[in-house]
Amino acid sequence: MNDSEDWKDAGAADELAAKGLSRVEIGRLQIAVSCAAGEFGAVHNHCNHVGGPLGEGHLDGDYIVCPWHQWKFHRVTGLGEPGFEADRVPAFPVKVEGGRVLINLKGATRRQRAPHEPHPLARPVSRGEGPVRVAGISTTAMAKNAPRYSGSDDLLGAALKAAGEKGCETQHIRLNDLKFQSCEGYYSKAARACTWPCSITQMRPKDELTVVYEALVHWADVVLIATPIRWGQASSLYFRMAERLNCVQNQVTTHNRVLIRNKVAGFIIVGGQDNVQGVAGQMLGFFAELGFHFPQFPYIAHSRGWSAEDMENNVRQVRDSKDLHDGAAALALRAVELAERLIATAPPERLERGGRKAHGHD
Ligand code: FES
Repeated sequence: MNDSEDWKDAGAADELAAKGLSRVEIGRLQIAVSCAAGEFGAVHNHCNHVGGPLGEGHLDGDYIVCPWHQWKFHRVTGLGEPGFEADRVPAFPVKVEGGRVLINLKGATRRQRAPHEPHPLARPVSRGEGPVRVAGISTTAMAKNAPRYSGSDDLLGAALKAAGEKGCETQHIRLNDLKFQSCEGYYSKAARACTWPCSITQMRPKDELTVVYEALVHWADVVLIATPIRWGQASSLYFRMAERLNCVQNQVTTHNRVLIRNKVAGFIIVGGQDNVQGVAGQMLGFFAELGFHFPQFPYIAHSRGWSAEDMENNVRQVRDSKDLHDGAAALALRAVELAERLIATAPPERLERGGRKAHGHD
């Protein structure tokens, strides 16, 4: 052991060189130790962004690429990549003696965080004055150059029309019109790697799911989601959206931060095939975890059933059904009425351990 007061032993030089990049613990300090072309580098393990473990990333030339969201820091100087040098992580003097890598813990440079303009979605959630606002989200997928009739989208339109006639502001969002990426599984790297706003939204300004985040988290008092049934499930677009909404739910888990309060959700489910209750149960469970409230009888639905393969008749039934259109309107009004009561009630200052696990956190 070559420890002296200032220089601490980080490990065998040949082993660390073979790894290229590794995370080393010295006491309670975590250090990203790297070696390229025989030269060692040592920088603090915690990324400036949201604390990703740099030592578990990979090397891109002389830059360490953070495994969480790919910020880069020079492996020897700790400076951010060209153009972002004002962001830097502490770098430590390092030397090799007697086959051991030694790091001078007292000689670290200072961490510096460049100011980053927060994403607009990161603003505090606060309800603006005004009438009840109803966002309808249609999740049906169809050819963009050959739009067709959609029963679920049509009934959503009827629901929004009823809300509008009641004096609400309404927004009809069709996921099919938005270009947005599938969730890339940041939560699977680490709970804190899944951020609010969504990591993808922050990294790729052209991703259009921002429209949905704005509506759900900031704008709407009522959210109505309409889906067809595909193979006994909600549509694939619904699930692509739901996966991206994990970041909203995850704020409860990681930060005890409830973004959805005093908001109401309802569902419109239309299918040629059955499994209405299964689809409704899945949607109710997910939106409950996001923090939404539900009116009594929170969904309306229609399905032709297992043996009915005559889909053209299914379309006709939905299009011509006064009952279904009245039912969609009544669902909207039930949701609006509950939203009005919630808005009139002061929201709780704090929700103690909301969310699915109710476990403690730091
Ligand atoms: S890039 Fe490192 S934590 Fe996000």
